[in-house]
Order: sequence, then C-alpha cells, then structure tokens
Amino acid sequence: MNHVDENVNILLNSAIQYVKDAGEWLIDLMDKPIHMKEKINQSDLVTEVDVKIEEYLCGLIREDYPSHWILSEEDSHKEHINNLIQPPEGYGWIIDPIDGTTNFIHRIPHFAISVGIVKDGFPVCGVVYNPLKKDLYSAQINGGAFLNGERIQVGAEKEISESLLATGFPAYDWKPNSDLMKHIEKIVGKARSIRIIGAASLDLCMVATGALTGFFHDGLHPWDVAAGIIILQEAGGLVTNREGNEYQLGEHTLVASNKRIHEALVSVLNN
Ligand code: IPD
Ligand code: CA
Ligand code: CA
Repeated sequence: MNHVDENVNILLNSAIQYVKDAGEWLIDLMDKPIHMKEKINQSDLVTEVDVKIEEYLCGLIREDYPSHWILSEEDSHKEHINNLIQPPEGYGWIIDPIDGTTNFIHRIPHFAISVGIVKDGFPVCGVVYNPLKKDLYSAQINGGAFLNGERIQVGAEKEISESLLATGFPAYDWKPNSDLMKHIEKIVGKARSIRIIGAASLDLCMVATGALTGFFHDGLHPWDVAAGIIILQEAGGLVTNREGNEYQLGEHTLVASNKRIHEALVSVLNN
C-alpha cells in the first residue's frame, strides 16, 4: 500500500518554512534597485537577488541537514552534480532561487522560489512559492498536491482541441527558426491556445491546478522542474520526455499534462 513517509514530511515542512522566509526577504529586496547581468545571452539573466536568496536557502539547509547534497542554479561549483541521471545517493535539495528571473526584473508578478527534494534521483517532495501572490504549491509522494493547503487536481480535458498549453524558450535556443518555433507550428490550429508565461515551475503547478492542460519545453534544468514535477504528479498529472517515457531529471525534453491528453500531445510534437 502507498503511504506517506514521515521523514519526507519533515523535509517538506522545513522546505515550506524556508521558502516562506526567503519570500519575505525577496519582497524587501525588490524595493531596492535590481542589478542584473547576462549569463549566456540577453535572455539568460541573473540578479544579485537570485544569489542572495540562494545563499540564504543553502545556509538553512546546510545547518539543518548537513548530510544532504544541494544543487542550486547560481552555485558556480554545481557542475559536480551535473549528472542526475546517475545522481548522488540519499536526499538532495534542488533549488531555483528565482524561477522567472526575467519576469522578476521586469516586475511582472509571476516568478517563484522552487525547492525540490529528491531521493536517489527521484523527486519525493517539493514547494513552489510565488511570494507576491503568496501562492504556495506543495506536494509529497503519496500525499497529494496542495495550493495554500487546499487539495489541487489536474483538469478534465480529453482532447487537444480543448487544451490550453504552455511552453518556453531554452536560453540556448533564443534565435530565429528555433526548435520551439517548429513545435509551436505543430500545435497551432490544434490546441485552444499556447502561452509563454516565463516560469517553468509555475507552468507545472498550473497544469496541476487545471489552469493549463499541458506544458512542453526543451532544455530545462533540474532546478526548473524538480519541485513542479512532484506537485503535478501528485495532482494526477503525467511528466515524460518527448518520446513518452518516464522523465528523469536532467533529460533534454519534457512533456507534462493532465494525463488524459498526454498521448495526443506527445504524438503532435513528434509528427
Ligand atoms: C527560466 C524559466 C522559463 C524557461 C527558461 C528558464 P529562470 O528559468 O523557467 O520559464 O522558459 O528556459 O531558464 O532563468 O528564470 O530561472
Ligand atoms: Ca529557472
Ligand atoms: Ca532562476
């Protein structure tokens, strides 16, 4: 029988407290001028707020769980954990201090702190927190998914034609004639519409609440999706790679949905 692991529940509660505290601080930091710099190009940005929030979260985790490993986006030493297909053993924390940095810089209130916890490479619980809206999405394996404590579930759409989908640009593919443009071409005229909202963690959570029906994206990193995957799975959704096989953190392609349209979505994207 599936059961809720008490140890994972303790970790989830810690993660919830950490992101709420970090969120308060992030809102204070937003009142000051925000300095940004480009990472690989003009669509891949980081601010000093990303770095401060990340250091704050990592400090709390190191203090409370010194034996756990951490993979966080802005850590310049993160390459030692770059292979999550053969991950380090035991519990690991995967952190995106601000998912949706471009929205954050442009003061679009759609970004989140994302903290996923994995065991032997697979997400076991996660929290995605939009500090401006105070929307806290959380889930743990076999425990269901929640938004601010209320249970959430994927939508009931059965056809692509009634589906609202989301996607996004991988930073390396920010160019004309990119793969994404080709995928959008395949969807146009079949789905209800497509959104590019700018925070992959929240896209997965919006599939989990039924606001979106599906999401597809190439080139995402583990920190973009580690928390969102478990939240969506626990809300009844499905996450695979573009071949329709189980998605593993670190894989190049990701397709997520309410499960009911999954096969059709994978097939449209592959045709
Ligand atoms: C980005 C967001 C965006 C996705 C990009 C990611 P960041 O993360 O999740 O939605 O399309 O590929 O890099 O840089 O804001 O943490
Ligand atoms: Ca991100
Ligand atoms: Ca980020």
